[in-house]
Amino acid sequence: MRRKLICGNWKMNGSLAANAVLLAGIKAGLSQSSCEVAVCAPAVYLAQCQAALTGSALGWGAQDVSIHASGAYTGEISVSMLQDFACKYVILGHSERRAYHGETDAQVALKMLRVIQAGLTPIVCVGETLAERESGQTQAVVGAQMDVLLAALDAADLAKLVVAYEPVWAIGTGKTATPEMAQEVHAILRAKLAQKNAKLAPVVRILYGGSMKPDNAQELLAMPDIDGGLIGGAALNPADFLAIVHSA
Ligand code: PGA
Repeated sequence: MRRKLICGNWKMNGSLAANAVLLAGIKAGLSQSSCEVAVCAPAVYLAQCQAALTGSALGWGAQDVSIHASGAYTGEISVSMLQDFACKYVILGHSERRAYHGETDAQVALKMLRVIQAGLTPIVCVGETLAERESGQTQAVVGAQMDVLLAALDAADLAKLVVAYEPVWAIGTGKTATPEMAQEVHAILRAKLAQKNAKLAPVVRILYGGSMKPDNAQELLAMPDIDGGLIGGAALNPADFLAIVHSA
């Protein structure tokens, strides 16, 4: 029912030369897979992705977008600029943006609306910190993040959303949520989506992110509500990324 999505999040990594090798390697290893595959590159490399990937089975997207449409916002990138480079996806509300750039749930919700209005697919990240998990607040934290997003969204647009559950303590740390821990949160997120629109909630993809690697991808992706992965470190190596794609 839900087509799995494996999306690379390159973060602030890469160069023209390294990206060329990485993209060629991924493209060469993509079989006629029934899963959707994409990479989210730094904005300056979106033209390179468009040139290398147009017509291929590998999609591309950005890692953030401005709340504003255009104007005096030095350093910002608008959604129409992402459209110029045929981006399909935009990661929003990654915990690194929330932590280092002070992004709030309300700002993430506004960005999500801009992206949906432009016809691109937002991949909106939610997740709890280690302290929040250890004090038993996981459900409350991700629930509150989802509430702000869902309050902003038209119920009819629910299916245009991709959610990524990324426990902050698992990102880049080598610590992964067990499949059961991740599934428990994914089920909570699915229930939230169903409160908004019970008919569309079953079609929304909920990705897991946080140290997903070739050796743990299969068991995570086997869980009923884990519909793909948002992959950081392992997306920078074609063999690792492809191994995860093949698990999906
Ligand atoms: P990681 O990053 O796979 O390196 O843990 C995931 C992410 O931050 O999206």
